[in-house]
Amino acid sequence: MNDYTKHYPVLLDEVLQYLDPKEGESYLDLTAGYGGHAEKILDRTLKPHNTTLVDRDQNAILHLGQKFDGSGVQVIHKDFLSASQELLSQGKQFDIILADLGVSSPHLDNASRGFSIKFDAKLDMRMDETQELTAADVVNNYDVDRLRRIIRVYGEEPRANKIAQLIVEHRPIATTHELAKIVAHAWPGYSKVHPATRTFQAIRIEVNNELGLLEQSLPIWTDLLAPGGRIAVISFHSLEDRIVKQYYASQSGNRYDAVLRLLTKQPITGGADEIVFNPRARSAKLRVAVKIKI
Ligand SMILES: C[S@@+](CC[C@H](N)C(=O)[O-])C[C@H]1O[C@@H](n2cnc3c(N)ncnc32)[C@H](O)[C@@H]1O
Repeated sequence: MNDYTKHYPVLLDEVLQYLDPKEGESYLDLTAGYGGHAEKILDRTLKPHNTTLVDRDQNAILHLGQKFDGSGVQVIHKDFLSASQELLSQGKQFDIILADLGVSSPHLDNASRGFSIKFDAKLDMRMDETQELTAADVVNNYDVDRLRRIIRVYGEEPRANKIAQLIVEHRPIATTHELAKIVAHAWPGYSKVHPATRTFQAIRIEVNNELGLLEQSLPIWTDLLAPGGRIAVISFHSLEDRIVKQYYASQSGNRYDAVLRLLTKQPITGGADEIVFNPRARSAKLRVAVKIKI
């Protein structure tokens, strides 16, 4: 039987080094997943009552509930924008904030979630299964221009035009393997990476509004940071990283009103050792900042 709870936290040593959690500090994890980072950070803060773990995925929430049962940790099942707005309205502040973006290994490994090209399943790709919009809706209902734009921008797919046309011509499309076969027509004779990988990524980003939620959340995360608090964001896509980089740049630097100071001038990436046992680390980029004490 598959274990859908196996997820290795990326850049764990680097996250601990830069966030530098200290005993007694409060901690907000906005994408707590399977609690890999959270467990190690809690080992250092030893402050479960001042810890909030957020995830939009019900399976992750169930797992976190079991893992930290009885410890006093607060677990919230919401997307991180709604959770952050709620915490801010309650006047909360945290010494340590972590956002490890994107999907978890269990999303990709659980065939029925429809995230992976490897398994045939209904087109779904929702991180939060209570949400209405699914990958099937995007693929079957969006007009050709919208599909082309999503596939080109979010998937960085050079043949987005052709792929969008093929999708529209072959509708209705019900499963991951149907979609993968249709997209492959745009790339006859491909060899290594399946040509639908970029299209799958694009549709996933659209279904989960990944970039929009990140953009709206970053200013709230700064407000949620206590003076001297540290925030780490791990991204896996160049557009995500650009949003984080530009936001940090807008809040830091040699200016009288700077709110953040960057602890990573360049993003930290996975070392060769980590990439061997955890391929997800290949595209990971970590950026960390500290809130300036006024
Ligand atoms: C890369 S995993 C995090 C793994 C975690 N750091 C660990 O060590 O187990 C990303 C998690 O973020 C969640 N997620 C992604 N976007 C989210 C959002 N906008 N709001 C809340 N959770 C989100 C996903 O459901 C997934 O469980």
